[in-house]
Amino acid sequence: MNRNDIITWLREECSDRLLTLWAQADAIRRAHVGDAVHLRGLLEISNYCRRQCAYCGLRCGNANVQRYRLTREQIITGACQAAENGYGTVVLQSGEDINLTGEMVAEIIVAIKQKTELAITLSLGERSIDDLIVWRQAGADRYLLRFETSDPDLFVAIHPPVAEEYPQRQFLLGELQGMGYEVGSGVMIGIPGQSLGSLADDIIMFSRLNLDMIGVGPYILHPDTPLASQANVPLIADQAPDTVLMTLKVIALTRLMCPDANIPATTALAVLDPQAGYETALQCGANVIMPNVTPVNNRDAYDVYPGKTNVFDAADEFDQRLKQRIRAIGRSVSVGRGDSPHFLASRRSSVQHA
Ligand code: 5AD
Repeated sequence: MNRNDIITWLREECSDRLLTLWAQADAIRRAHVGDAVHLRGLLEISNYCRRQCAYCGLRCGNANVQRYRLTREQIITGACQAAENGYGTVVLQSGEDINLTGEMVAEIIVAIKQKTELAITLSLGERSIDDLIVWRQAGADRYLLRFETSDPDLFVAIHPPVAEEYPQRQFLLGELQGMGYEVGSGVMIGIPGQSLGSLADDIIMFSRLNLDMIGVGPYILHPDTPLASQANVPLIADQAPDTVLMTLKVIALTRLMCPDANIPATTALAVLDPQAGYETALQCGANVIMPNVTPVNNRDAYDVYPGKTNVFDAADEFDQRLKQRIRAIGRSVSVGRGDSPHFLASRRSSVQHA
């Protein structure tokens, strides 16, 4: 599929033709990653952030956020909760928190590995090469770092303090692959200034970067951000809409371009469609869900975008209901770590070539 084909699908409005896109993506998903849905316990370990990203509620300029950092014990308890729920993976996510030191995180990784069989995914932002190496050596398995947009001008416009560092993220993604991490990235859909062509470039970039995991979700306006105060600025011609439909198209096209990657039905999508967002994404190419295992008292403060906490209510009940919802659409709940088939295949081939 070339760029024009992708753009044509992104513009498609005929529901009958779209049904054929969903069906193709669903068939490719089944053939390459199977019917099991992998669950990842998402543990939001700190909402301190040194960045000023124009779209994100956790930006350091937002004084309305009550900042927290979980203790070592809380993090280990959260990971054990994920294991008890039967999830194969815990995702440790935070803002770019410099006080969450390389050493502290490494020690926590070791402790979680001693207590559980969990795969550990880190999503801690742009960190030093040294930290990334130490964490990998401590036992971390995967790293998530979205590149957010493949358009350099748009990237610079929404990431003020990192302007001069572009293309830091694409570079880091390559470094992470070299360190042996399973690597994930992704973008937001419908950022003001993002055209459909740019979104097509993002999808092509997923494939070029040879990613193991790809997460995409709609941009959701956060009132305490610079992008919210620009909300009345006229949109560009060909602006990508921040809708459920556009997100489903991107998920489906990503599945066609990257058949054996793990692709989550993201929380941001479930915020826009709490009733059926997970199910529709799972039927358009997705095969992963990331339920929240953050201590209930801290969840409100991890305010990347509004509405997140409505998706996950009282932890245990949510877990049971989510599993029922997965089975209700004829899918199974995965047991085990749920490594990306793309990663396993590339590791096998690099062993053969060694
Ligand atoms: N709307 C949707 N997604 C957002 N993210 C950050 N802010 C928003 C927002 N306002 C996403 C970014 C980031 C991930 C953790 O959350 O893509 O990488």
